[in-house]
Amino acid sequence: MMKKIEAIIRPENLEQLKEALLKANIPGMTINQIYGCGNQYGYTEHVRANEIIVNTLPKVEVKLIIPDERLDEMIKLIISVTQSGEFGDGKIFVYDVVDCIRIRTAEHGDKAL
Ligand SMILES: Nc1ncnc2c1ncn2[C@@H]1O[C@H](COP(=O)(O)OP(=O)(O)OP(=O)(O)O)[C@@H](O)[C@H]1O
Ligand SMILES: [Mg+2]
Repeated sequence: MMKKIEAIIRPENLEQLKEALLKANIPGMTINQIYGCGNQYGYTEHVRANEIIVNTLPKVEVKLIIPDERLDEMIKLIISVTQSGEFGDGKIFVYDVVDCIRIRTAEHGDKAL
């Protein structure tokens, strides 16, 4: 079976992560520019004596569908590139994938990845 990894990372880590993922021969990836917040609900900024609460910050979402057996390897790889230890390093969500179909050939499952 297959897993979906949704990694929400800092935008400045995207290039290095893409490079590492391509080197690891992943079958494909989808990238979105997003806004979000975690448990700090953003941060507070001071602009000319005004306090502005910035609730959502720009992040990048990297989606990967991979064979089950590559899950641990991918999680370790993502952490190794994106972990600074500071708040806001990001999160990795993992989902089961029911099927994948390559439209060109109508193949299903792992072999369509
Ligand atoms: N529970 C959640 N549901 C949906 N998206 C989330 C959730 N937690 C984090 N995110 C997404 O992940 C991004 C990064 O989150 P972040 O790294 O700040 O998580 P955190 O739980 O606050 O951890 P930390 O305490 O290390 O900052 C957020 O901007 C948001 O897009
Ligand atoms: Mg946070």
